[in-house]
Amino acid sequence: MIVLGIETSCDETSVAIVKKKNRFLLGDVLSENTLSQVKKHKKFGGVVPELASREHSSTLNLLVKKTLKESGLSLNEIDAFAATVGPGLLGGLIIGSNYAKTLALTTKKPFIAINHLQGHILVTRMKRSVKFPFLCLLVSGGHTQLLLVRKYNDFKLIGETLDDALGEAFDKVAKLLGYSYPGGPIIEKLALKAKKKINFNLPEPLINSNNFNFSFSGIKTATRKIINDSFDKKQEFELAKNFQDCVTNCLITKCSKAIDLYKKKQKINSFILAGGVASNKFIRKKFVNLCDEKLIEFVVPEQGLCIDNATMIAWAAIERLQIIKKSDILDFEPKPRWALESL
Ligand code: KG4
Ligand code: ZN
Repeated sequence: MIVLGIETSCDETSVAIVKKKNRFLLGDVLSENTLSQVKKHKKFGGVVPELASREHSSTLNLLVKKTLKESGLSLNEIDAFAATVGPGLLGGLIIGSNYAKTLALTTKKPFIAINHLQGHILVTRMKRSVKFPFLCLLVSGGHTQLLLVRKYNDFKLIGETLDDALGEAFDKVAKLLGYSYPGGPIIEKLALKAKKKINFNLPEPLINSNNFNFSFSGIKTATRKIINDSFDKKQEFELAKNFQDCVTNCLITKCSKAIDLYKKKQKINSFILAGGVASNKFIRKKFVNLCDEKLIEFVVPEQGLCIDNATMIAWAAIERLQIIKKSDILDFEPKPRWALESL
């Protein structure tokens, strides 16, 4: 089975062709092309939805052609066409899903509507057979959720952020330090340069609370206060390190408790880290250590598959098609908000 996937939910236009391996439920990427719009949005200090839509519509056709050419396949050799239909920016969702629907209609092949968050999580199973059920921490620019994943389409929300998503907090702190979007990779690099041991006493909200929720806006506000109150720019490395340590500690503390509880409740096979923030090497390392200590398998996608990409959309469609062989309706409406629990 070969699926062409399209991802246009935010500021990346991405197209990928993924082939399911014979016999096993694992996949190979035949080709992928991703165009980031970061430079186009830079001067506005964030993603401008209207501009993002225009960029998707002017680049998608070229990307599809290029990706097909690189795969060595013709359109008729593709078995299904998948697109992100939510959550995300409406304009981009309409452009990507309409393109996939049109390809499906003209080739008489199935159209598969994919939830972006489901793509982030399931792609972990593309190169390695990770068995259900597993616990998953999804950390991206728009979401921070701790989930029990029971099947490809069965997600139970265990905890989530009550305010900012973790990626958003990284982006805002980088902005406070004068850097542009996306801030996560910048904070990670700055933190690596920290030499002195300075403790800025950042708060760790909800760390001792009796649930699995997170809160990051207080950490960001405390960071802003430090920067506004006679902050020495030379200490930006140490401040970035304090921030990264602080949020990582919040994640590790909650996930450690969740692993203990869910290992007792039912057989949890693995712990998965997914989403854009999962590309952070420091956070990955801390989760490797946690899972070693808890004797649970740890799986995280390779870094390029953590940030938005169409491979995860094509792969999620392959998983869906293993269970339900039919097309989604061509009237399937894009859903800017689409919780995993309502799949
Ligand atoms: O999953 P993603 O590509 O897009 C969404 O679905 O939101 O995640 C983007 C987020 C951004 O907030 C970005 O700053 C963050 O992931 N991010 C990182 C790193 N790389 C990307 N955060 C921390 N460390 C990184 N290395
Ligand atoms: Zn994403």
